[in-house]
This record gives sequence, structure tokens and C-alpha cells, in this order.
Amino acid sequence: MTKADVLLEAKELVRSFGGVTAVDSVSFSVAEGELRGLIGPNGAGKSTLFHLISGHLYPDKGNLIFHGHRIERKPPATRAKMGISITFQAVHLFNGMTVLENAMVGGHAWTRHEWVEASFRLPRHRREERVIKERAIWALESVGLDRFMDLPAESLPLGRQRALQIARAICSMPKLLLLDEPAAGLRGDERRDLLALLERLHKEGLTMILVEHDVGFVTHIAEKITVLDRGRVIAEGTPEEIRHDPLVISAYLGTTTSDEAVGIR
Ligand SMILES: Nc1ncnc2c1ncn2[C@@H]1O[C@H](COP(=O)(O)OP(=O)(O)OP(=O)(O)O)[C@@H](O)[C@H]1O
Ligand SMILES: [Mg+2]
Repeated sequence: MTKADVLLEAKELVRSFGGVTAVDSVSFSVAEGELRGLIGPNGAGKSTLFHLISGHLYPDKGNLIFHGHRIERKPPATRAKMGISITFQAVHLFNGMTVLENAMVGGHAWTRHEWVEASFRLPRHRREERVIKERAIWALESVGLDRFMDLPAESLPLGRQRALQIARAICSMPKLLLLDEPAAGLRGDERRDLLALLERLHKEGLTMILVEHDVGFVTHIAEKITVLDRGRVIAEGTPEEIRHDPLVISAYLGTTTSDEAVGIR
């Protein structure tokens, strides 16, 4: 990839918790429009790396460059405005709010109105609310949830709650979407729907990084995969290269069989 194609670059990121170095000198680049897989055993540092990118954690050392700008010390709201959106590993929805209202939360990442205007409901605020609502409906349609729009978010089954998180994230019109185990706990048909959705977003040009325990799922859809183990990048390559990498196979031994772990089924 040429320098111009790079959307995100991590340079020697380090983040420790007490004695545990969760992310240990991680460097990698993601190209504009790429769908990157990020895999690794439990505790490898995948979610920590995501939180470093989204701004929910700051690194002890290292740099993050997004669209040519240094972002490693910028707060999450600033990064969201710049176009970085995350769906968390644990489902985070606002109970007591409808499906539509939950999706609309994503749209607020990019509005310009000040809280003063919002509290007095001045015209620009009302106009922006309308735009956000339209975007949210579009996002819900994209994930097949528009017919559930008026239901309380907590009444949805898990698969749909995960889809709603994605709707909320795409309502913010991200340039980079971080998906932390979006297929966890989904049934076969829900998994297929999710796969189709990610394939569509990929075709539309959205850059994504996908963390997933189901390695078969990642190898099916990602162009390139980065493998973390104990905080370090131990391999990077096409699904085919990763599948045959001895370091990857041994990192997964003990959690499951190597063939299952690297998606050979
Ligand atoms: N807030 C925290 N405080 C202390 N230790 C943490 C914290 N977050 C993560 N860790 C530790 O950092 C390491 C990496 O955790 P992380 O959650 O990033 O791994 P992961 O690859 O996402 O794992 P999983 O596949 O189970 O989701 C683990 O040893 C974990 O216990
Ligand atoms: Mg995790």
C-alpha cells in the first residue's frame, strides 16, 4: 500500500495494566477501504488495541496516525467526529430508549450544534435532529431493523441488539469501523445476515477492522489478517498465509485444535 492509501497507522503502541502488557509494541497499517481481520487467543490484547484506537484508552507509548493526524492523545468524542466508530464486545445499548433513539445516538457524533442551542431547541438544532433521524432510519434499514424502530431496544434478541450497535455506529458516517466480536452469541441465520451486511459495507468502501473469535468467519471475509498473541503481532497476511503459519497454529494450540482455530473446516 502506498502512503496515500493508508487510513490508520499504529507505531509501536504499548499499553500495560499493572504487570500485564496487554498491547506490546504493536505496529500495523490499514489501507483505505480495507476489511482487516484481527484475531488472537483470549487475552491477546485485541479489545485493548481497539480501545487505544477509539480513544477509550490512551497508550503508554507509541503513536496512532489517522488520515495523517496524530490521534493517540485525543479523547474518544474527537476521534468519533474524525470518523472512528466502535461497536463494543459487550452490547452497550440505552435501555428505556427505542431502537430508533439508540441508532440516533450515533448521529450526534458529527453534529455541530452547541448544547445551548439544543436546550432551547433553536432552528439549526431541529434541522440537525431531522437529518440525524433520516440517517438513523437509513442505518436501521441497512441492518434490517427499520420495522422494529419503535420498540424498546432491550426487547430485541441478542442478534438484533448487535445489529443495532452496528446501525448506531454507521449512523455516525464513520470512515473507520471497529467491530469487536460482532458475531458472538449469534445463531446461524443471524451470522449469515451479519456476514452479508459486512460484505455490503465493505463493497460500499467502508474501512473496517473486525475482531472475531470465530476464525472461520474472519477468514471468509477479511482480505488480510493480523494475529495478536500476548500483546504482540505474531503474524500478518492473507487468510491463506495465516492458516498455514506455524506461529499462529501454536498460539491457538491448547485453546482448541489448530485446524479449528485457524478456520480449516
Ligand atoms: N481494564 C483492564 N484492567 C486490567 N487488565 C486489563 C484491562 N483490560 C484488559 N486487561 C488485561 O489485558 C490483557 C488483554 O485483554 P483484552 O481484553 O485486550 O484481550 P482480548 O484479546 O480482547 O481477549 P478476549 O478474546 O477474551 O476478548 C488481558 O490479560 C486482560 O486481563
Ligand atoms: Mg476482547
